[in-house]
Amino acid sequence: MAEHKTLKVIQITDTHLFQDEVCSLQGMNTFSSFSIALNKIKEDHPQIDLIIVTGDIAQDHNIHTYRKFIEVMCQNFDCPVHWIPGNHDSLPAMRDADTQNFENPLFDIGDWQFVMLNSGVYGKVHGFVEQQSIDNMNNYLEDNKKPTLICFHHHPILMDSAWIDTQQIRNSDYLLEQIHNHEHVKIITWGHVHQESQKLINGIEYMSTPSTCFQFKPKQDQYQLDNRLPGFRWFELNEDGTFTTGVSRVDMQNYQIDESSTGY
Ligand SMILES: [Fe+2]
Repeated sequence: MAEHKTLKVIQITDTHLFQDEVCSLQGMNTFSSFSIALNKIKEDHPQIDLIIVTGDIAQDHNIHTYRKFIEVMCQNFDCPVHWIPGNHDSLPAMRDADTQNFENPLFDIGDWQFVMLNSGVYGKVHGFVEQQSIDNMNNYLEDNKKPTLICFHHHPILMDSAWIDTQQIRNSDYLLEQIHNHEHVKIITWGHVHQESQKLINGIEYMSTPSTCFQFKPKQDQYQLDNRLPGFRWFELNEDGTFTTGVSRVDMQNYQIDESSTGY
C-alpha cells in the first residue's frame, strides 16, 4: 500500500534577480533578500517535498541569472523545484538554462497534484492563459482526481488596487469557470502582486504570496511600495485534501527600499 503523508510545499515568488549580485531594484539588493529568504526557509522547514516558483525570477532576461538561480536552488534543497515565468522573465532564456526540468506544468507528488500555468504575455505586463494550457489542464484534471493546487504568476481575481488590477489575467472569468468544474481543486496561488492575500471562493482557497524582495502596499489605486518585509508561503497538504498555509517574513537588519519610486 502506498504511504500517505502530509506534504510540505514552499512557494517563492518574484525574486527579480540580476546576474550581477550587487544590483538593486527599488533600493533593495534582490540577491541578498533572496538569500536571506532561502536561509529562513531552510531553518523553518528542514523537510520540504516541493518548491514552486511563481515567476519574475530574473529582472535582466539573462540566461546566466537563471543558471545561477538553478544552481543556488540545487545547492540549498534536494526536493523538486518547479517554475513558471512572470512578465519580467524571458521564457526562451529560462528554457535554455533549464537543465534540471524546472519547467513542469502538470505533475503529482504523493496524494496531491500540481498545475503550474504560464500566464505571461510576451512584451506585456498583464496576464493571459493560452487556450492550449487550459485544455491541457482540463484533460489532466479529468483524468487525475487527487486534491490539486494550481498556480500562476498573475492574479486571477481583483486585488482592489486600481493600478495592479489592470494587469489581472484577462481571461480569468473563463479560466476560473473551467477550474471550478473540477471539484478536487483546493488551492489557487499566485505571485506578481508582491503582497499577501487569502480569500475562500466556492470551496477554493485563493491566495497571493509576498515577493522575496520589495512589497507593494495592498489596496492602493496608485503604485506604492510597502515597508513590509520580504517573505514566502508554506503549505502543509494533507492526504485527505485539507491543508494549512501561512506566510513567513524574513528578519532583515539593513532593510532598505526607495520609497520615492514610482514604478519598476
Ligand atoms: Fe514581480
